[in-house]
Amino acid sequence: MLSSKKRLLTGIQSSGVLHVGNYMGALKPFLELYEDYDSLLMIADYHALTSLKNPKELARNTLDVAKDYIAVGLDPKKAILFKQSDVPEHTELAWIFNCLVTVPFLMQSHAYKDKVAKGLEANAGLFTYPMLMASDILLYDTAVVPVGEDQRQHIEYAREAASKFNTAFGQTFIEPKERILESSATLPGTDGKKMSKSYNNTIPLFGTDDEVRAAVMKIVTDSTPAGTPLNTETDVTFALHTQFSQNDIADLTNRYREGNIGYKESKDILVQNILSLITPMREKREALSDDEVRNIIKEGGERARVIASAKMIEVRKNIGVTV
Ligand code: TYM
Repeated sequence: MLSSKKRLLTGIQSSGVLHVGNYMGALKPFLELYEDYDSLLMIADYHALTSLKNPKELARNTLDVAKDYIAVGLDPKKAILFKQSDVPEHTELAWIFNCLVTVPFLMQSHAYKDKVAKGLEANAGLFTYPMLMASDILLYDTAVVPVGEDQRQHIEYAREAASKFNTAFGQTFIEPKERILESSATLPGTDGKKMSKSYNNTIPLFGTDDEVRAAVMKIVTDSTPAGTPLNTETDVTFALHTQFSQNDIADLTNRYREGNIGYKESKDILVQNILSLITPMREKREALSDDEVRNIIKEGGERARVIASAKMIEVRKNIGVTV
């Protein structure tokens, strides 16, 4: 790892099957950037525990996320790929940040407010989630955090945590910056809302051909009759074309405007383009064994821990718990 490079860290929860929104919002931008930085990629299994209470599923998802990243092109020799629970310094630092922030401050978290508004159980882990995420980022003196738009507030929380700590205990943490890929900041799901596991509106990243087709066919459309122009601004299928159909986009735009394409054909083209992107990745993924991936994660955890534990020595000293 070249220490002269700035540090980059991003994370992804191992709470379910990855979807194409994760790919466009997190995996792809990460792949475009990570070799220019001293990069860490963390599987947030303790964050996933806020919603998932099934040990087999959590373990399976963790291996799957790692496989997904390697299949889409991550070279584990060029980044530290690890899981949060292998580096206990994350939860330790989160406790310290929890002692610095107020309850009303945490109550402003969109993720928390959304869950409460939906009447879902808000456990204390979900409530303090932003401070665990702040620890993930700050432990490594991270400069850049590539994420989707939905995570912007969490990076603001991380900056706040850094600033509160520095004010209380002296300069210790650097304030990280988010890196949001605007073009795909929020990829819509099949119902037009943000694509999200919790909305059940996803197109799976590594689904079978049939699963991808079925998800695309579910995309909502209006009742514009055939032969009439379609609205490129509001059509969800078109929004997905802007991400997956770059080679056809000029032609599709014209055909939409001229009323020369129907929703069914547009969706067929989208299915083909998504499949041609994911088929080679899927083949690569199938060739990876669980053991191979377990070893990569284990080794990544050891490398991450070297950095995190050095930082915690400084933190412990600064807060006064070393006597
Ligand atoms: P998570 O697991 O929900 O999502 C992982 C990444 O995928 C992005 N994303 C999307 N981007 C565009 N369109 C969408 N529809 C879409 N859905 C998800 C997310 O923005 C994210 O970048 N709290 C984080 C995980 C985390 C983390 C971290 C991230 C834990 N610690 C430290 C960065 C740094 C989360 O729940 O992401």
